[in-house]
Amino acid sequence: MSFSIKSVDVALAPSIAKAMVSARWAEPHWKALFESTTTPTQIVYDLSQRLPWNLINNRTTKRHQVAIDNATGQVVAYIRWILPTHLASTDPVVWPEAQVAEATPEDRAVYEQMFKAVSDDGKVQGMRMDLLEYLNTPLEEMDAKINEGGPFLCKLSLDYLTTATEYQRRGIGAMLLKAGLEVADAHGLRSYVTSSAAGAKLYQNHGYKTVETVTMDYSQFGGTEPVSDYFMIREPRQ
Ligand SMILES: CC(C)(COP(=O)(O)OP(=O)(O)OC[C@H]1O[C@@H](n2cnc3c(N)ncnc32)[C@H](O)[C@@H]1OP(=O)(O)O)[C@@H](O)C(=O)NCCC(=O)NCCS
Repeated sequence: MSFSIKSVDVALAPSIAKAMVSARWAEPHWKALFESTTTPTQIVYDLSQRLPWNLINNRTTKRHQVAIDNATGQVVAYIRWILPTHLASTDPVVWPEAQVAEATPEDRAVYEQMFKAVSDDGKVQGMRMDLLEYLNTPLEEMDAKINEGGPFLCKLSLDYLTTATEYQRRGIGAMLLKAGLEVADAHGLRSYVTSSAAGAKLYQNHGYKTVETVTMDYSQFGGTEPVSDYFMIREPRQ
């Protein structure tokens, strides 16, 4: 089997949503975030309706790529990066092949409508907001602590990485990661990620070091074991 990196357009939203949910559903704390009546099929559908709006917004700083299976053309993994603001509006554009094309005003209106139709006040339908807030608050606090001060403003943040469950452990995550790290090195940027336990080793193998860890016990929400997140930084290579 062989895989290639491809740029992202909104038409890929359903297949990106499928790859994202397939991987995250295997994580107990992510599954716990949803009401028991919410099915993965519903989550994939809702996400596919929300994604076009998310893909076309903040396009000056967001960069996206997918990996596809060369035999089938199927999307098997997705990565999203955030450029530092000083690289957001340069001429020429930094990393243009990873930027989603600008939408027409008519398309923007359609994508916004699609987003709203599956959202409760901008929030994901069927999600347990009390658990989300409980798990996210310490992560946001740690993120703010790490990011206070100048040097970390010059960073390339890895915002999302997911490989569909059945395609994991074939080097696809590493292939996508390396493409972003080449950009980081070319521009002398630190790279920053908040990683799940599943991703930490991969990032470590590519030069990231853990600077902080947050472990949360969510047994009062039905969790059977604590969940850890790793805050990791990689220095640029010459
Ligand atoms: C984390 C994640 C993105 C990794 O994706 P992946 O495509 O499986 O990544 P890779 O295949 O490049 O590397 C994963 C492991 O497989 C190993 N591997 C790579 N090619 C392999 C092969 N051909 N055979 C066996 N193992 C292989 C790598 O060495 C790596 O092992 P290690 O990190 O345990 O040493 C994926 O597990 C995932 O989507 N998890 C759920 C979402 C998540 O946690 N994302 C990260 C949040 S920041």
